[in-house]
Amino acid sequence: MFISFASIVLGFSLGALAAPSSLGGDSLAQRTSTTCGGLNGIAGFFDTTPNVTLSAWNRTLPNANDTGVPLVLVPIGETGGPNAVHLENLATFASVGINFWPTVALEQGTLIANFMSTSDGVPTFTVATQAAAGTALQFSSSARPLPNNPIFCAVASTSAEGGGPRGPALAVGTDTDHFSLCQSGVANTIIYQASATNNGAYDFSTCYPVTVVIDDLV
Ligand SMILES: *[C@@H]1O[C@H](CO)[C@@H](O)[C@H](O)[C@H]1NC(C)=O
Ligand SMILES: *[C@@H]1O[C@H](CO)[C@@H](O)[C@H](O)[C@H]1NC(C)=O
Ligand SMILES: *[C@@H]1O[C@H](CO)[C@@H](O)[C@H](O)[C@H]1NC(C)=O
Repeated sequence: MFISFASIVLGFSLGALAAPSSLGGDSLAQRTSTTCGGLNGIAGFFDTTPNVTLSAWNRTLPNANDTGVPLVLVPIGETGGPNAVHLENLATFASVGINFWPTVALEQGTLIANFMSTSDGVPTFTVATQAAAGTALQFSSSARPLPNNPIFCAVASTSAEGGGPRGPALAVGTDTDHFSLCQSGVANTIIYQASATNNGAYDFSTCYPVTVVIDDLV
């Protein structure tokens, strides 16, 4: 069955537009360019991975799956205009049932996602642009290159921070401990530092803490 990218965006636009995101917002611009809080390459912290996939692992509750629950990008809206930027959240594949970005990679602290095709009219460059307290971990896609956003790190289980059960954990800076899965419309969505104050973007009562695990491709 053929499903157009635009129709998927419309289908998932509801909750997202309630919470306007700031592309390249102030908090990101003020962060240092030193990756992994200055620890890159040291003691289990690293800022670059090959193509991988992400999964969620319950930190406190029993896990649904002994390999974690696969996470995928889900289109949530776009800015419009001739240089439209599409926006995506990270959600469980089980809740959204689509996956246009089969892999992600860390490139010197920037989390990028690889779109499955480069046909006309679909985004080519996808970068995680927002990891702000209380909001979804958000990506932006564009046909034009997007700026790097070197705020992420992979933290191995050998580090003092811990890491994931089967692979390194994704961190914002060196923080692996404040991701949650929260219900946002139909999408069970990754939120950073989940908060009851969220402009209705997600239902805080449904949130539970997870580690975002970086899984090697088989
Ligand atoms: C986390 O635990 C809850 C309760 O057991 C379960 O409903 C949910 O699917 C689990 N999530 C993951 C990522 O394993
Ligand atoms: C459990 O993991 C497998 C392998 O990644 C995946 O195919 C399956 O969809 C997962 N189940 C859930 C509920 O996410
Ligand atoms: C990662 O995946 C993208 C898209 O599938 C591909 O173009 C690229 O060559 C891959 N990179 C590596 C290092 O395998």
